[in-house]
Amino acid sequence: MSARMEAPTRAAFDLADEAAYLAWRAAKLARFPKALAELVVEVRDPRALTPAERRALVERCERADMAIYASPTGGDADKEIPRQLGLQLGLRDLDSNYLADDDGISPLAVAACGTRGEFIPYTNRGIKWHTDGYYNPAERTVRAVLLHCVARAESGGENELLDHEMVYIQLRDLNPQHIRALMAHDAMTIPARIDDGRVERPAQAGPVFSVDADGFLHMRYTARAVSIEWKRDAATQAALAALEHILGAASPWLFRGRLEPGMGLVSNNVLHTRTPFTDSPQHQRLIYRARYYQRVAAG
Ligand SMILES: [Fe+2]
Repeated sequence: MSARMEAPTRAAFDLADEAAYLAWRAAKLARFPKALAELVVEVRDPRALTPAERRALVERCERADMAIYASPTGGDADKEIPRQLGLQLGLRDLDSNYLADDDGISPLAVAACGTRGEFIPYTNRGIKWHTDGYYNPAERTVRAVLLHCVARAESGGENELLDHEMVYIQLRDLNPQHIRALMAHDAMTIPARIDDGRVERPAQAGPVFSVDADGFLHMRYTARAVSIEWKRDAATQAALAALEHILGAASPWLFRGRLEPGMGLVSNNVLHTRTPFTDSPQHQRLIYRARYYQRVAAG
């Protein structure tokens, strides 16, 4: 058994403190899972985890900012499954948007018509690299995301997953100036969303990488060019090109898989994609998504 991984200190993400960074980097790399299978934890009932199941999920999240659970609840559309699982991991405060059901847990499925169909999560199209809630203001930072699969599609609907801390390491090793550029408070701006002449969401400027009050790294990002304005200076553009290169390459730390019914992903809002999918009368994809202001609890 290895010792429990310490939370990174703020110093690990301070460009002036190379020693703190290297110590954190070495510990992170040593413990990072080598394959998707290492992330998977079998749980009997996500609503009532055993202490060992809970510990196993938390331990994966400490190592890789994510864990996958597999349970025999496939086909059961009870929202208490993801809600109770989240609560047991310290995930209490849901970020609700106006498209989510009232309780803040969004059913991601193909919307036949109406407002939801205008937004990619509610279609069967692919979704490029992003973290969730990148357009949220700082006071509604999404630190954790839970995806719970009730039903799969006929085909497709896979996810790629990449721990944003590993992307930070790749970028900083390449050139620390990339980190400096992406930590700038005006690195990326999400334009205002205006509906019928009314501002539904004001423009949001902010950093890509930030460090929260507890010393944890957070990332805001989307590869969608249409919904974002990047700072135009050379340093930001170079950092962005490097980041795009990393995301487009076959990273050794990237995981790829599909959530099957009863499975779910718990994550500290890591980078992810989704491939397009096709439903059939027998297999209509339904994923519950919950976004939280907390990170997955420690220990
Ligand atoms: Fe997402």
